[in-house]
Amino acid sequence: MKKRLVSGIQPSGQLHLGNYLGALRQWVELQDKYDCYFFLADYHALTSQPSANQLRENIDHTAAMLLAIGLDPKSATLFFQSAIPEHTELAWILSSLVGLGQLNRMTQYKQKADRAGQNAGLYTYPILMAADILLYGAEAVPVGEDQIQHIELTREIARSFNQHYGEVFSPPKPILNRFSRIMALNDPTKKMSKSVPGSAIGLLDEDNQIIRTIRRAVTDSDRQARTPSPALANLFTLLEAFGDLDQVRQMTKQREEGRLSYSELKEQLSEDIINALSPIKKAYKQFSSDKAELRRIYLPGEKKARATAQETLARVKKIIGISS
Ligand code: TRP
Repeated sequence: MKKRLVSGIQPSGQLHLGNYLGALRQWVELQDKYDCYFFLADYHALTSQPSANQLRENIDHTAAMLLAIGLDPKSATLFFQSAIPEHTELAWILSSLVGLGQLNRMTQYKQKADRAGQNAGLYTYPILMAADILLYGAEAVPVGEDQIQHIELTREIARSFNQHYGEVFSPPKPILNRFSRIMALNDPTKKMSKSVPGSAIGLLDEDNQIIRTIRRAVTDSDRQARTPSPALANLFTLLEAFGDLDQVRQMTKQREEGRLSYSELKEQLSEDIINALSPIKKAYKQFSSDKAELRRIYLPGEKKARATAQETLARVKKIIGISS
């Protein structure tokens, strides 16, 4: 039996290189090796209070993009979180086992609440995420670095449940990848974000826009420095992610010898990114052209996920004394 993996992505706006390298590209690599359940976390997206139109647009965008990057419904089980009511049901059941102190520790909540204001959904969001994962008995969860704390909380919740009621859940592990921390091109101290101009490259950005953003990316002022500045290291990470290895080695050597041309590095990087994104953009156009058909592609995954989720929830309801 293949190991089971679960992961989700929030439809919260235009996807960018940070999202792609942080987790999505890895999903594509994992889909044949593992029994993968990948979903759009559309209920999670409510926590940023989008308008209905905005949310619908983001959902359509993300649904088409997941297919455009190469996720295949024949390999992975693909679905929408909101289509499986067991997610929210299990989240409610788990919530009584979670202490406020545990939620108060979540750094992502603190950051988001500072920006967007506090709301109960944002606060209890990690409990829904735990339900997403535990519902499918996932052994591991491929995520970006910012989600590790949520996976740890999921492990704690699984253990509390098992202690209180009996063994049902196995605590999942995170799967990270080398590229799970892509920083903003205009500020290497911040994560790449599509809402900040100059920070990100969107997966649908036009070629000349990509060239412009890379050209304006910060580098460093000390060409002789022994270790690359965080900004330059970030550009090298992208070069590694999209370019060929020889090229990376050569430019690394040039940098070490203090003779790297930053404009050459940027030109090469732009070209590599443009080449990587061009098939994605083309496929996106196709998948997004027919919204009804796009939804249909997710139906078989939804059916399969629902059956698994129902099975788990039935066991849970029995063991907690709600049903006999
Ligand atoms: N919170 C995740 C993010 O913002 C998305 C998510 C929701 C998720 N549920 C999940 C990821 C379950 C992994 C597993 O990126």
